[in-house]
This record gives sequence, C-alpha cells and structure tokens, in this order.
Amino acid sequence: MSEYSGNEAVVMKNVCKDFKVLNRHEGLKGSIKDLFSRDYKTVSAVKDVTLTVNKGEIIGYLGPNGAGKSTTIKMMTGVLEPTSGELLVNGKVPYKNRTENCENIGVVFGQRSQLWWSLPLIESFKLLRDLYMVTKEDYEGMIELYRSLVDIEPILHKPVREMSLGQRTLSDILAAFLHNPAIVFLDEPTIGLDVSMKAKIRELILGLNKEKNTTVILTTHDMGDVDALCKRIVIIDKGTKIYDNDIDHLKTYFGSYRTLKLKRADDEWEEYLIDEKTTDVMDVIMEKQKQMKIKDVKIDEISTEEVIKKIYEGGAK
Ligand SMILES: Nc1ncnc2c1ncn2[C@@H]1O[C@H](COP(=O)(O)OP(=O)(O)OP(=O)(O)O)[C@@H](O)[C@H]1O
Ligand SMILES: [Mg+2]
Repeated sequence: MSEYSGNEAVVMKNVCKDFKVLNRHEGLKGSIKDLFSRDYKTVSAVKDVTLTVNKGEIIGYLGPNGAGKSTTIKMMTGVLEPTSGELLVNGKVPYKNRTENCENIGVVFGQRSQLWWSLPLIESFKLLRDLYMVTKEDYEGMIELYRSLVDIEPILHKPVREMSLGQRTLSDILAAFLHNPAIVFLDEPTIGLDVSMKAKIRELILGLNKEKNTTVILTTHDMGDVDALCKRIVIIDKGTKIYDNDIDHLKTYFGSYRTLKLKRADDEWEEYLIDEKTTDVMDVIMEKQKQMKIKDVKIDEISTEEVIKKIYEGGAK
C-alpha cells in the first residue's frame, strides 16, 4: 500500500474474513457423521470493510452480537489473517510482523486478565518492563503518570487474584499502556463494573490517550463508554460497515427524535421515542393520560443508546 502516510494507526481496505465451519447434524448419529463429514459452509464474519483510524483517535467500534467486531480486532492484532483485502497497523501487516506488532499494541479484554495471577501488580509491571525493554526513565515516567491519574497505591502490592473485578480491570489497563504502545484495543473494558468504577476507568483511558496520544479502538455494548470516550464511531452489522462518522453527526441525523418520559402512579418512568416530524409529543401525552395517571413528564433529545438502537434496526445508512 503505497499511500501509507505515517499518520494512520490502522488502514483497512476491502478486508474480508471467512470462516469455514462444519455443517453439523443433530443427534448421536449426526455427531458421528460429522466426524467424517466434508460438508462445510462458509461464514463471512467480516465483509469488505474499509476503514482508516488516525493516530491519537479514540474510536468506538460498535455493532450487535456477532457483527464481526472481535474478528476485526483479532485481524488487527495479528491473531487472524484476513481472507482478502489489505490491512496495515502502524504501517505493517500485523500477522506477518507479529513480534513487532506486539510491541506496538496493548490489549485489554474485559473480564479476562492478562496479568500474572499470583504476583503483586508491581511485579507484573516489572516483568512487562523487561519483556518490552522499556527504559528505566520511561518506566518511571509512566508510573508517575499513573499516580497522577488514579490512586494506584492500594493495588500496587496486591496479587491480581486478590483484587476485585474493578481493581483487576484497572490493573489490566495500566499494564496494557505500560510499554507506551501506539494502539490499545479495549474489548468491553467496563463490563460488570459499578457506576463509579466505570467513571474511573473512562477517566483513566481519556487521560492516557491525552498524555500519550495513544490510539484507542474500543468495542463496547455500554453507551456510557461511547458517550464518555468516543467522538467518532464505526458500526458494523453482519460483517458490513454501516456507519462511520462523528457521534454528533448521528445525533443530528436523528435530530427530530425526542425521548418522552412519563412518571406513572407507582413512580416508575415509562419511555417513548418519538419522531417530531411525524408525531406530536402533546398528542402522545394526551393519549397516554387516558390510560394512566401521569405524575410527571420529561422530554429529552435522543440518547446515544437510542441512536445506536435505531441504526441496528436499520434506521440510518
Ligand atoms: N473461529 C471462528 N470460527 C467460526 N466462526 C467464527 C469464528 N469466530 C467468529 N465466528 C463467527 O463470526 C461472526 C462474527 O463473530 P465476532 O466474534 O467477530 O462478533 P462480535 O461482533 O465480536 O460479537 P459480540 O458482540 O457478541 O462479541 C459470528 O457469526 C461468529 O459465529
Ligand atoms: Mg466480540
């Protein structure tokens, strides 16, 4: 790819990934038949995806379950080879330069820790420092930066197995950034965390991105992550890219939508998404009032959550 300018963290051109899977038969007889079967079908997990991510960007790589997000990340990290198309990460073909690629990337999979289970975090840090040949100066600078962004004292001398899920996630993120990689992949980094830990993690990611200009590719089903971290989102569905633009652009696209919230007699809120172009909010309120007692009313603009849901349902191209 001659047009690589050096400014791109990721360049994907018409990337496809197919998996060959066995056509399974049911029952015991079927299972035995499968052992000798040559009856394969092809699953197209990623279809013709073209995408450029610039250095320092945080992008949300979104899509419903099974859309092809993890498959894309696996190709970017060099674990999988694309079936066709061109893919460069930091200007290199990931699966052909796996060692080099590892030095340039960091990876965090929510729930699954990459750290040494029985070692205190600081010992894991030292191992990573040696593994990646981080200089003493850079290492100390990084620890200093960590101290300025989060309270690392309570976890630094704790073995990972004794940590809470939140502390472990925090540790995993710190470990992924330790060798100052150009790109960090975060796969569901806030899954299972409480509200305040989520906020802490998001702040940390933002701080690291800002200080180190690290490119972050984030996959998540949590729209709070998207709101807090991403200016730009890419959405794939059934392997095909269906949206790639600023999140603000998307909200403008759905600018005529309002969220109507009605408080019922039992103090629970009911929500309705209304397109003001076709429906009058007042009409809806009047109609609802015939069926139930309304204690309070709120009208908001469309949330990221609802925007994404609309797109998954085929509301925008
Ligand atoms: N190793 C594999 N062999 C066969 N099929 C696979 C393999 N890995 C993924 N697939 C299929 O490819 C498609 C995309 O899967 P992928 O894991 O990339 O989705 P995802 O967007 O990460 O979903 P989720 O949000 O559930 O994590 C799915 O249909 C999946 O079954
Ligand atoms: Mg996945």
